[in-house]
Amino acid sequence: MFTIGVLASGKGSNLGAIINHVKSGFLKIKIGVVISDNPDAFALEIARANGIEARYIEPGRYRTILDPEQEKKYVSCLREHGVELVCLAGFMRIIKKPFFDAFEGRIINIHPSLLPSFPGLEAWKQAIDHGVKFSGCTVHFVDQGIDTGPIILQAVVPVLEDDTPERLHLRIQEKEHIIYPLAIKLISEQKIRIEKRRVLIDEY
Ligand code: GRF
Repeated sequence: MFTIGVLASGKGSNLGAIINHVKSGFLKIKIGVVISDNPDAFALEIARANGIEARYIEPGRYRTILDPEQEKKYVSCLREHGVELVCLAGFMRIIKKPFFDAFEGRIINIHPSLLPSFPGLEAWKQAIDHGVKFSGCTVHFVDQGIDTGPIILQAVVPVLEDDTPERLHLRIQEKEHIIYPLAIKLISEQKIRIEKRRVLIDEY
C-alpha cells in the first residue's frame, strides 16, 4: 500500500485529519511513521494513540534546520518505514539537500496562506496585518526555497473585519484538513502531473 511519512513539530491537527481520512476509507494509504523534532509534540501522541509508529529524532544544535548528521537519521527512518511520500505538517525546520536528494519530488507541505503571498512564519497574522480580504491555505511540493514549490491545491478563506489572528488561523485550518488529505489522495492515485511549475490534476 502507498506509504506516507509525516513530519510534525506541534499539535498535529493535520496529522489527525489525515488519520481520520484513512479511517473513513477516503485515503487508501498507510502512515508508515510520524517523526518529530520536538519530544513534546502532541502529534506524537496522536500517532501513538492510533497505533502508528512515532519517533522523536533530535534535531541537533541549530534552530531552523536539522543538523546534517541528524537529517541523515530522518532520511534513514523514513526509508526504513518504506515511505514513498513525505508530508510536512507543521514541521518547523527547513529541509536541506540530502533530504531532497533522497526524496526528490516526493515531499509536500501545507502552508496557511494563498502562496505566493505570505510565505514564512505566522502567515495568518501576515494576512491580517497586510489587510487582504481573502487568505487561505496551499498544499505544495517542497523545493529548496521557503514555501516556493509547485502548488498542488489551494482553498480560500475570507478575512473578516473582526478577525483575530487566532480565529483566522482556526478557519484556515478547517480548510487545511480538507485539502491536505485530498492532495495526498491525488498523489497516491497518481492523478497529478507537473509541467514546469504547473501541477495538473486528472479528473477525480
Ligand atoms: C498549519 O497551520 C500548517 O499550515 C502550518 O503549520 C500548522 C500546523 O498545524 N504549516 P497542526 O500541527 O497540523 O495543527
